[in-house]
Amino acid sequence: MAAPAYPHEPQIVPLVETEWRSIRTPLPHPEALQLLNRLALHEARSMLGQPPIIWHRAHRFTVEDPHGNRWIDFSSGVLVANAGHGRQWIRAAMEEELGKGLHHSYCFPHQARLDLVEKLAEVAPPYLNKVFLLTTGSEAIECAIKIARRYGTDRHGDKKKRIVSFVNAFHGRTLGSQLAGGIPHLKEWIHQEDPTFVQVPFPDGFANENTTFEAFLAALESRAARPDEVAGVLLETYQGATGSFAPADFMKSLRAWCDRNEAALILDEVQAGFGRCGRWFGFERYGIEPDLICCGKGITSGMPLSAVIGRGYLMDLFGHGEMTSTHSGNPICCRAARASIEVIEAEGLVENSERLGRVLGARLDALGKEMPNIGASHGKGLIRGIRFVKPGTKEPDGPTAHAITRRCYESGILTFAPVGPGGGTIKLNPPLCITEEALEEGLAVFADIVREVCAA
Ligand SMILES: Cc1ncc(COP(=O)(O)O)c(C=O)c1O
Repeated sequence: MAAPAYPHEPQIVPLVETEWRSIRTPLPHPEALQLLNRLALHEARSMLGQPPIIWHRAHRFTVEDPHGNRWIDFSSGVLVANAGHGRQWIRAAMEEELGKGLHHSYCFPHQARLDLVEKLAEVAPPYLNKVFLLTTGSEAIECAIKIARRYGTDRHGDKKKRIVSFVNAFHGRTLGSQLAGGIPHLKEWIHQEDPTFVQVPFPDGFANENTTFEAFLAALESRAARPDEVAGVLLETYQGATGSFAPADFMKSLRAWCDRNEAALILDEVQAGFGRCGRWFGFERYGIEPDLICCGKGITSGMPLSAVIGRGYLMDLFGHGEMTSTHSGNPICCRAARASIEVIEAEGLVENSERLGRVLGARLDALGKEMPNIGASHGKGLIRGIRFVKPGTKEPDGPTAHAITRRCYESGILTFAPVGPGGGTIKLNPPLCITEEALEEGLAVFADIVREVCAA
């Protein structure tokens, strides 16, 4: 199902001028259209679908186009810019590395890689004591799946290789990560049934009200997935499609079940890590200890680097040269990641995420009580998924969600296109360095837009 399009003809929109937002031209700007049309000539169509803003310059929690328009960023560039955009500390670190001429090093060791893995080991809990660096979140997921399978099959033979994951999960777009994902139409597209991937309902407490662990066990049984065949259970710390967390009790039972059945518990922290959920890692909110975590996006606040961080006995299953990647530990990306973590530490951005997350949650809860079009707002820290529904039902209302994001774009609030079932979820997740004043301004505009669109 293709996402609906944003207007590709200039529209006259009301002017906006505040400390952080400027809308001074028709949108999209006519010159922006030229750029978009030229891109469309040579690029795959799939790259379209976001509000037609030409990203030109970015600073902390704002993004500007080349025509004098400026948005408060509620997207973080799809949960990437955790430390904020254009941070000088990160840029200086990358520039220093560039100055050495060391743009790449394959798997040969270098100082920046050491500095990063030491830093990751410092911010991760002590039992997650080994790191493997990759480039994208999808690769980190594929790698964790392979580690879990290797562990299962080494100890119990070929049968112990099934991976259990959850309906509506998103783990990336490479073949293996898409097989593990649980978004129905994405599964159809790959035209590949693989019985070693099993999906069970996610206990989100909204679409699936049965959040008991017994329901998980029953779902496994109904899919003929025997515990002794399961090599690993993989889940997003919160579902990216909706912002929903599982209940902590469920996660504790899942941890115990994985222990009993010698299955690796893998948490996909690609969205949830590095302060996003008001903790260094989102899984800390559950009070459980995963075996492997997959990180990406906010690990660098902008450069392509991902990581699997895990228990040493799992991370060391593959021998010398058996688990590598050409761009593993790229020196410039490593410097960016370490510097981004240092900014998050120095500015207390994990704490800011927790503090402002309460403001975000309170404003959206109040809006949800007022508006029957909002079925639920889920999330923790500086991430919320707001599910728009047809009033009185749980049926997602994609067109309304899309119209709201369009009005946001026209009003100086940058969100990405709606996600989740039926395209009904709007995600609000600003950079963690956003100020309370800018957050409040953006949320007040958002609330007015929701009222206006839902009344129309
Ligand atoms: C939860 C989650 N896991 C994995 C991925 C895949 O990451 P990448 O796009 O870097 O491959 C994404 C990307 O959106 C994600 O949100």
